[in-house]
Amino acid sequence: VVDIQTLYQKTGMFTYDPGFTSTASCSSSITYIDGEKGVLLYRGYPIEQLAEHCTFLEVCYLLLNGELPTPDEMQQFEGTITMHTMVHDQLTNFFKGFRRDAHPMAIMVAVVGALSAFYHDALDIKSKRDRDISAIRLIAKVPTIVAMCHKYSTGLPFMYPQNKLSYVENFMRMMLGTPCDDFLPNPVLVKALDRILILHADHEQNASTSTVRLAGSSGANPYACITAGIACLWGAAHGGANEAVLNMLEEIGDVSNITKFINKAKDKNDSFRLMGFGHRVYKNYDPRAKLMRETCHEVLTELGLHDDKIFKLALELERIALEDEYFIEKKLYPNVDYYSGIVLHALGIPTNMFTAMFAMGRTVGWISHWDEMIADPEQKIGRPRQLYTGATKRDIPPQHIKR
Ligand code: ACO
Repeated sequence: VVDIQTLYQKTGMFTYDPGFTSTASCSSSITYIDGEKGVLLYRGYPIEQLAEHCTFLEVCYLLLNGELPTPDEMQQFEGTITMHTMVHDQLTNFFKGFRRDAHPMAIMVAVVGALSAFYHDALDIKSKRDRDISAIRLIAKVPTIVAMCHKYSTGLPFMYPQNKLSYVENFMRMMLGTPCDDFLPNPVLVKALDRILILHADHEQNASTSTVRLAGSSGANPYACITAGIACLWGAAHGGANEAVLNMLEEIGDVSNITKFINKAKDKNDSFRLMGFGHRVYKNYDPRAKLMRETCHEVLTELGLHDDKIFKLALELERIALEDEYFIEKKLYPNVDYYSGIVLHALGIPTNMFTAMFAMGRTVGWISHWDEMIADPEQKIGRPRQLYTGATKRDIPPQHIKR
């Protein structure tokens, strides 16, 4: 390993790597990706096995603690999460300050950031106890806040969490139920949403996780850091892509228009890109997209929507793109966002909530990385250098000198 810092101190040289395409910003033992082979491991376990055999909360435990829980550990962990699902009643006032048509991610940024104003009791980041309780609070409360964002935008009353339900059942009830009905989530749909959360739980040093780490490197509190991650995730090149995919499929509208849109994506003079295609690290099929396509089949079959026009369009667009020279040469494959929007739509989640759903799954990854970084004795404030391209030193012109 080259000791870049010593190299810099001795020579004044530093590396210039826009977009960090080949710079590791940290060491981490949480998630491993082999982008050439399409491999994704959380703490060493393949994503395919976790998606098949584990629940999202087990995966949360794994990401936070490094090992899968024993039944006793799981019972205790689930109980602790359940205890923290409610938000402080004062927090509900924050929502009223927003327009009803505000984007849910704008509200998320404000409300999750505001959590730090409620938990002065546990903001000592050097204390492992405080870090653990912050992680629990975030994993427990983010779903409640996501559901509140949706309820606020529709004018329906907020739903209190219900402790007898599982993590995902409780979220679906808060999001899709009303106080007037006994909302009973369909187990196939619960499993599908659980899987979506597992697939989004972590993805090593992506833009939002790197943002969380950079914010945390200054010693900022965990709620502020996760808020920074939420803000970064919002962009269409990152977590905003699932929303953009569905909008794009609706715009394409019909199989007969696919070639026109593929040609637009290939045109250097057109900024249009096929949303849900391409990835900085995967130069092969994103393993999460494969699992998401399976989940999409399961959900649409369960709901009797196997003839769904948008799903058929997505499959055909994928087939045509994967046979196209441009996409083959640039190794552009569907990523996790390509099918997740169709599944979320079928589950009854409105399009403008998709990125907030991504944030809900990713919260555990963000907080695990934040915790790993703070615990690292060699941790330093993140402070990239720059390649300066501005004017050389010069004097203020005489007409600007005050006499
Ligand atoms: N459609 C058409 N062309 C594309 C696409 C696409 N979706 N993605 C990349 N390309 C082309 C680029 O135009 C570029 O071509 P060039 O070499 O001729 O200039 C080449 O492929 C490499 O693209 P970059 O933007 O340099 O690759 P980068 O690694 O920086 O970007 C990204 C990756 C942002 C995901 C990109 O593929 C993209 O914009 N995809 C669409 C948005 C999307 O789906 N985002 C979700 C990402 S996954 C996630 O966040 C969970």
